[in-house]
Amino acid sequence: MTATGMDETELIKQKINIVDLIAEYLPLKKSGVNFKTLCPFHGEKTPSFVVSPERQIWHCFGCGKGGDLFTFLMEKEGMEFKEALEYLAKKAGVTLKAKTDQVKGLKERLFEANLKAQEFFHYILTKHLLGKTALEYLQKRGISDASIEQFGLGYAPNSWESLSKFLLKRGFTTSEIIASGLAVASRGAGQASCYDRFRGRIIFPLIDSKDKLRGFAGRVLDFAEPKYINTPQTAIFDKSNFLFGLNLAKGDIRAKGEAVLVEGEMDVISSHQANFKNVVATKGTALTEGQIELLKKYSDNLSLGFDMDLAGDFASRRGIEMADKAGLDIKVVQIIKGKDAAEVIKEDPNLWQKAIEGSVPIYDYYLASISARFDLKNPLHLRKIGEELIPIWAKISDDLQRDHYIQKLAAFIKTDESALRQAINKLRQAETRNYSQILHQKKDDVVNLRSRRELLEEYLIALLLHPPKDFVFVSTFPSNIYDLFLAEALRQIYVMLILYLDSISFKAKSFDINEFVAGLPKEIILEVDRLYLIELDDKLKEARSWEKEVSGVIAELKKALIKASLEKLSFEIKNAQEFGKMEVVETLNKRFRDLSVKLKNL
Ligand code: GTP
Ligand code: MN
Repeated sequence: MTATGMDETELIKQKINIVDLIAEYLPLKKSGVNFKTLCPFHGEKTPSFVVSPERQIWHCFGCGKGGDLFTFLMEKEGMEFKEALEYLAKKAGVTLKAKTDQVKGLKERLFEANLKAQEFFHYILTKHLLGKTALEYLQKRGISDASIEQFGLGYAPNSWESLSKFLLKRGFTTSEIIASGLAVASRGAGQASCYDRFRGRIIFPLIDSKDKLRGFAGRVLDFAEPKYINTPQTAIFDKSNFLFGLNLAKGDIRAKGEAVLVEGEMDVISSHQANFKNVVATKGTALTEGQIELLKKYSDNLSLGFDMDLAGDFASRRGIEMADKAGLDIKVVQIIKGKDAAEVIKEDPNLWQKAIEGSVPIYDYYLASISARFDLKNPLHLRKIGEELIPIWAKISDDLQRDHYIQKLAAFIKTDESALRQAINKLRQAETRNYSQILHQKKDDVVNLRSRRELLEEYLIALLLHPPKDFVFVSTFPSNIYDLFLAEALRQIYVMLILYLDSISFKAKSFDINEFVAGLPKEIILEVDRLYLIELDDKLKEARSWEKEVSGVIAELKKALIKASLEKLSFEIKNAQEFGKMEVVETLNKRFRDLSVKLKNL
């Protein structure tokens, strides 16, 4: 990032008040020093979207999104950062300097190298004898000539240097070829040299939604491993911001109001060939935030066209939870177990059509597929179903939708709706970080020890970020408190915060959040902002209650620390006993007793 770039965004931030900008989109209501409203990025009934004029940021405690005025426009309007910059610069009357970076030059060269390489690969596949087996392979899998043209497929001959030589002859330097990811650096005789990355593979050009050729994927023809290799991360390719087929699918996604997500390249190509064109692929990986944003530009409806299972954290492993949080409506295309889209289509395109038409909301799918595994007449089984689905239901981010499915599940497992709702809310509370509650309800049953601890650590920082007005720093903070923080970032914040509180107390100044964050590293500021925007109980404005709360949290943290040590000790004792090391057992036992006493006296 160049210094001039920084200045421009800073200047814009100074000239435009984020409250005014967001008020153009959302009805803001004053709440203490901040403003609040219903979050536009996920469904909710009570506002958890906070705008801070002091910090010039926004944050939603419901879905976790947040940022500055640039990110707000990127989220709300689907703008790219550059577009948001240009839009806000105009609004603020700031003139942007033209980008004269060399980086731009390199990127252009990489795009050109990719285009040349594609010509080469495509020629080999369609015209050259070397591509004959690959062409036959594709034909055998039912890929038509038209699809080969439309997707620009190619073949990389099984050679170490044919592409590199081809590109060198066309004026690309070795370092450009390596930077493009088309070749891999090797140690030649003293001078820079490289060898082709893609060898003996069918080539799938990776083209983005704006028709830019960013990289390639290559599939083997036989059963060799790895089955696919891709262009690595380069100056123009980042696989986490890429969806295969989006360039050809975006129009249909918009028109049909829905995107279908399949597993891989072959599935996308087969589907388009069978005239279902709103189909894209993540290339086998979990959905990323970047990909979800890409999809949301065209539609808020997503159908998953791949093998689904109910296994534990499937949804989070595949990025589905994240998509739900981002406000996508998710359905499941039910395809025959063990088959992928390409196989279904090859068997009969009508099957694929029926499957897409019959796609069901993901939570209905969960209900349907779980009922296949259990006996609905058996009360024990019904309970099991409840146990499996409650954690999934607790993660439905939209309040109305969650309520709807609570009703459905209650009827399904013949249980009392309000009891079910209560169980789900309890789980959710553990996750929405109700700090004070966590401190005062001393039981560990709601959240496990570790996360309760994390929450307490966060709560302590949140408290320290809101010292009462007549706050005087006395060194009541225990000096060994550094050990209390497991989270590295929080410990860092704590250290800075204590130094800062000490200094303002000394100068009899009041707490100033902007003064505090000035000079802190960017990741730390993000964390500080989130904790600063937490609304604390009004009574904590009063010095005595605040101090009491602070020492309460510290005591709890200490207890947690000791409990963890005790657990570790008893494990060590058991170990030592097993190996008959009685002396060790003796010392460990003594330590165990000392700590237990300490815990009792806290
Ligand atoms: P076919 O076997 O030809 O039907 O390919 P496919 O596209 O169905 O592949 P598969 O279902 O095995 O995997 C889905 C997607 O995951 C592929 O399209 C690839 O994008 C990706 N993938 C599969 N195997 C590998 C691998 O070995 N390495 C990497 N990087 N990606 C892979
Ligand atoms: Mn396949």
